Amino acid sequence: MRGLPGGPAAYGGAAPGSAAYGGPRSRPGQGDGHRGLDPPRPPGAGRLRLVTALAALRDDVALDTVDVADHELPGGLDALDPVVALRPRLAAADAFVLIVPEYNRSVPGPLKTLIDSFQSEWDAKPVGFLGYGLSLTGGVRAVEHLRQVSAEFHAVGMKDAVLFPRVLEHYDAQGRFPAEPEGPEAAAKLMLDELLWWALALRDAKSVRPYGV
Ligand SMILES: Cc1cc2nc3c(=O)[nH]c(=O)nc-3n(C[C@H](O)[C@H](O)[C@H](O)COP(=O)(O)O)c2cc1C
Repeated sequence: MRGLPGGPAAYGGAAPGSAAYGGPRSRPGQGDGHRGLDPPRPPGAGRLRLVTALAALRDDVALDTVDVADHELPGGLDALDPVVALRPRLAAADAFVLIVPEYNRSVPGPLKTLIDSFQSEWDAKPVGFLGYGLSLTGGVRAVEHLRQVSAEFHAVGMKDAVLFPRVLEHYDAQGRFPAEPEGPEAAAKLMLDELLWWALALRDAKSVRPYGV
């Protein structure tokens, strides 16, 4: 906050009732400490005041607050056409491969919001990852964040991912991708072998015992 008069100093977070708060789609009893609980919750004011009141006591802070709830940003997409249209397709799938560019060491916001807009559609299904980025890390930070997210959705992340460090170097002069396919194809085959094993194993298991945890 110091030296940033006019800059954002505090974030109010997503609007109450949005997916981030375990809102309308929440399933009671999931045991993660926030879903299914419904105490009286005044809109973000207490949390914002906690920070602003302390900051206001200081003479080396110029305070400006931005409450995300005051702006028209999508917290969840549940009722929107893309999500309604995608829901049966995701529900019918036995497995997923998420292809993700790394954005600021993580997952692009729109992809995360899309993922957050579904729930049971991910349940007890395997997820493979392909990551890429402009840096040397090859999207691994986005992939590892997605792995954490998928755990929350009762999905199983595949151990081996396909990664493209310095992705622009994987195009040849004619724009073909990947310029040297041998390594990426071997990595993709390994990931798909794992994915298929889990997809069949979980489909068989669910035919005997539906997943209801
Ligand atoms: C907002 C933003 C943040 C990014 N952050 C990273 C990053 O942290 N690490 C990285 O390797 N690439 C980063 N990139 C590059 C993207 O991962 C991606 O490689 C680039 O946008 C080209 O991919 P595209 O053609 O699919 O857009 C970022 C790009 C954008 C637009």
